[in-house]
Amino acid sequence: MTTAPTAREKSVGAPHTRVEGRDKVTGAARYAGEIPFAELAHGWLVLSTVARGRIRTVETDGVLGMPGVLTVLHHGNAPRVDSDYVGLMGSRPDPTVALFQHDRVPHLGWPVALVVAETSEQAREAAEALVVHYERQPHDVDFRGSHADAYPVDSHMPAVAEKGDLEAELAASAVVVDAEYTTPEEHHHPMEPHAASARWDGGRLEVVDSNQSTLWVASELARLFSLDATSVWVRSEHVGGGFGSKGARAHQVAAVMAATVLERPVRVVMTRRQMFSLAGYRSPTTQRVRLGADADGRLRALQHRSLNVTSTVHDFVELGATPARVLYDADAHHTSNHVVPLDVPTPTWMRAPGEAPGSFALESALDELAEKCGLDPIELRVRNEPERGPVSGLPFSTRRLLACFREGARRFGWANRDPRPGVRRDGRWLLGTGTAAASFPSGAMPSTASVTAEADGGFTVRINASDIGTGARTAITLIAADALGAAPDRVQVRLGDSDLGMAGIAGGSMGTRSWSWAVTLASAELRERLALGADIPPGGITVRSDTTAALGALAQKERHSYGAQFAEVAVDPATGEVRVRRMLGIFAAGRIVNPLTARSQFVGGMTWGISMALHEEAVRDRATGGHYGADLAGYHVAAHADVPAVEADWIDDPDPDDPIGIRGIGEIGIVGAAAAIANAVWHATGVRHRHLPIRPDRVL
Ligand code: MOS
Repeated sequence: MTTAPTAREKSVGAPHTRVEGRDKVTGAARYAGEIPFAELAHGWLVLSTVARGRIRTVETDGVLGMPGVLTVLHHGNAPRVDSDYVGLMGSRPDPTVALFQHDRVPHLGWPVALVVAETSEQAREAAEALVVHYERQPHDVDFRGSHADAYPVDSHMPAVAEKGDLEAELAASAVVVDAEYTTPEEHHHPMEPHAASARWDGGRLEVVDSNQSTLWVASELARLFSLDATSVWVRSEHVGGGFGSKGARAHQVAAVMAATVLERPVRVVMTRRQMFSLAGYRSPTTQRVRLGADADGRLRALQHRSLNVTSTVHDFVELGATPARVLYDADAHHTSNHVVPLDVPTPTWMRAPGEAPGSFALESALDELAEKCGLDPIELRVRNEPERGPVSGLPFSTRRLLACFREGARRFGWANRDPRPGVRRDGRWLLGTGTAAASFPSGAMPSTASVTAEADGGFTVRINASDIGTGARTAITLIAADALGAAPDRVQVRLGDSDLGMAGIAGGSMGTRSWSWAVTLASAELRERLALGADIPPGGITVRSDTTAALGALAQKERHSYGAQFAEVAVDPATGEVRVRRMLGIFAAGRIVNPLTARSQFVGGMTWGISMALHEEAVRDRATGGHYGADLAGYHVAAHADVPAVEADWIDDPDPDDPIGIRGIGEIGIVGAAAAIANAVWHATGVRHRHLPIRPDRVL
């Protein structure tokens, strides 16, 4: 059921169920791994069982005779690809996508072969029977958190930013916090595994895939296989989650290679276990935060150094020191992001990359400083609210962080909080409350859209957006409806198709904002033409838009969303069990397009924060270089029983430079959530927890 808007142009801001919701719950919506193809063959990836070394031989003879087996691809016979390019995301490809190009094995779970058979079961059986001989070399997967082999990595921002004399300001400070925080390796694991089907249709490569941008995947495949960009067609209509893991990955490349060699359609689906080494993950981090303040809490010194793991084949930097560059100023302000390479898969973006682990360290340290200064943690933040970007010096677009804290404190009942730790009890449980700030950058990527007024009175929006489960398709429908002055049920949205052209990815909290801008431009122009009395021919009237120029003309500002996280926990000192009793997040995150799905986004992020604080941890075995329990039994994510009433809401905060006022909401829900919980555990017990997850054995 849809909540009907009371008047035209009021669709944005009113709750609206997903336009494809019925298709999803009835099974009519097809996902990448279940779209039928005639003559489909099935590929099964074979992953290395050594953590470092060389492939000596791949014994294909035995398996080629097994039932249904069509071919075995490996470094000795696979098509060559060209991985010497800079991709759509502005970086060189992770060499993991250059599948089967050499005999070197840089980590456990590296793809070494693809077995293709008539059925998925036959491919799996043969893949499990395939014998690969390796020359083993010593490996190192042990993240000791030492800076000895670390180096800074610049990305879209410089690795190191320093102003002022840190040691002098620390020495002049009345109060100092100097602490090390660690976060473990974490995995995305979207419900729908990575899956791709590839086939050649004439001279055109067609790929049905599950991704966060069809254009991203199409452009990488075109570069890898030296194809003209227009001869690669990637579709991704429904996606069961991405969280940063669904870009160009081994499965698409494997499917294209096999489809090319066999001249028939081939599907490759990752298993849940394979996703542990093939889908990317959040690197573990070691972070040192040093804060120096006057007795009244004003910061004189702020240092945040973040160190993360990368692979030996590609640099990926988890920008843990990033939130400090936005949230707080200090006379001396030093932030840095370093990486240390190990024999592990390359990490990647995972929901709120940088901000999620970085905010745990920074916002925990702020809480420790508040304790040492004898200040309420919210008052400490009030006293350190900067006028301009602490590192950039740029003005803030809008910054309603303190308004989030005020509203959150009121609703959470913060005013009555006794600041002393370890003094509240509910039977055997110790109770505590904690808070933390959240911030996440707001951006937009150039996008094109077309909007057609159809002869039957309806409208068709075409934009290469990706709805990865967030409700983006519905948001775009509402945006277009308002811009056209039409009811949402008159608007059809087509997305997830690389033939629709250039558009931003579903990532960086930028998707809906980027797409909505383009859809608004085209819709507004179309509405004007219709208002002038244009006759609609049988083929309709189509208007196209491109936001490249508008985005290029935006003034330089610090553009972020903000939030205040609150948590109440109960800790059983006998068992070490931590239960989150309630959480509240108040966000200032631009205009909210669809309150129904937006609330789900925030609550989803906060729930993930509970999971990050208390449960999630992928543990590597030094001996094998792989994971203990590489499955969802061994890797615990918060289950329903772990999650109490989680409340998310927002304050009015339209972005002044966006045509609709959007700023993006996809990632900020997890930011600060783990710190709020850790701070609440301190308040309950009087013990600081600087290492996630806060497992019972660490509490005891
Ligand atoms: Mo998100 S980690 O930008 O998909």
